[in-house]
Amino acid sequence: MTTALASSRNSLTMATKSNADIKITSNEDLNKFIESLKNEFLEKYNQNKLSEPSDRLHDFKFMTILGQGAFGVVKLVKHKENDKFYAMKIISKRRVVKTKQIVHCLNEKKILQSLNFPFVVYLDFAFKDNSYLYFCMPFINGGEMFTHLRKRKKFEEKLSKFYAAQVFMGLEYIHKIGLIYRDLKPENIMIDYKGFVKITDFGFCKPIKDRTYTLCGTPEYLAPEVIQNKGYGVSADWWSYGVLIFEMSCGFSPFAVGNPGQMQLMERICIGKFKIPMTVGNDLRNLIENILQIDLTRRFGNLKNGTDDIKQHPWFNDMNWIQLYNQEIMAPFVPKVSGPGDYSQFDDYDDVDLDISKTCLYEKEFADF
Ligand SMILES: Nc1ncnc2c1ncn2[C@@H]1O[C@H](COP(=O)(O)OP(=O)(O)OP(=O)(O)O)[C@@H](O)[C@H]1O
Ligand SMILES: [Mg+2]
Repeated sequence: MTTALASSRNSLTMATKSNADIKITSNEDLNKFIESLKNEFLEKYNQNKLSEPSDRLHDFKFMTILGQGAFGVVKLVKHKENDKFYAMKIISKRRVVKTKQIVHCLNEKKILQSLNFPFVVYLDFAFKDNSYLYFCMPFINGGEMFTHLRKRKKFEEKLSKFYAAQVFMGLEYIHKIGLIYRDLKPENIMIDYKGFVKITDFGFCKPIKDRTYTLCGTPEYLAPEVIQNKGYGVSADWWSYGVLIFEMSCGFSPFAVGNPGQMQLMERICIGKFKIPMTVGNDLRNLIENILQIDLTRRFGNLKNGTDDIKQHPWFNDMNWIQLYNQEIMAPFVPKVSGPGDYSQFDDYDDVDLDISKTCLYEKEFADF
């Protein structure tokens, strides 16, 4: 079994591309449209446009480091010719090989370059050199949901619901096109300049038919069936979605109260032991309880009504899904950014020097990148 678990919270203009012009006017339109996106995704995914082996790095001016994760660093760069800003995720081939993540990494690129939905990021282009793989994505400049959540302690209900509804649609899209996401958490959710959500980090995402077994994700967000190594499906993402709604609304994650050790955390998750604060209203409480269900035959998102149990839950009664999809709702919170290259919403990191080998490393392993 591959283990891709990382410690603590590590895991282990803007908007859409072509579908930005499509106007959705009814729930039926929306459902049909999301269905149809599967073909578009599969066509691109199966075609797998290869990146050029080249030293395109010189085409960009380095601005700052946006984030550091388990597998690489993300830099903000500006293209010297067209002045466009990109979030450039740089992954060391050596690191990927050493941690046995080659398949995950190749999947990440194929998936990112095939996605097309308002609430998920996508790949503009990729390239590789002797030592590194480079993913260039639009720079989402409103910062991580994680940063805003820690600053505000917790989100007021209206804001939680606004984010929860977009993440719901994003996850529904990801599942409809045949993928499981496996790393939902506030660190992987970006806020754009208008205040809308973009799910990023498809490092653990992969196509799934029915079940999969790999233990990967972020400990606090793992579903019991993932920990228990029984095999799991997309309902594990809905579990993580329950943890996310809880954390956004309460300001802490349900199973990590009091900083338990990893073993105790896993035990609490497997018995479904958590307490919802009294401040949480009845509708939201009910939704969380129905998603954070260890019994899969009772977990919302996994029952005969599918995702409708969540979408049509009373907590979302006042949500206009069509307006939300069309981004016609005013975001309850809009990050303060002065322009497309403003990175003030991101934490400071030290720059990371790249050490590019004179010879091509792992050429065969990454031939499909
Ligand atoms: N398109 C983007 N625009 C702005 N910032 C981004 C973008 N993509 C990623 N980032 C920043 O970089 C961070 C790390 O990116 P990502 O989560 O993809 O990397 P990772 O190495 O896979 O991390 P993890 O440890 O979660 O696996 C994000 O949390 C975010 O702060
Ligand atoms: Mg991440």
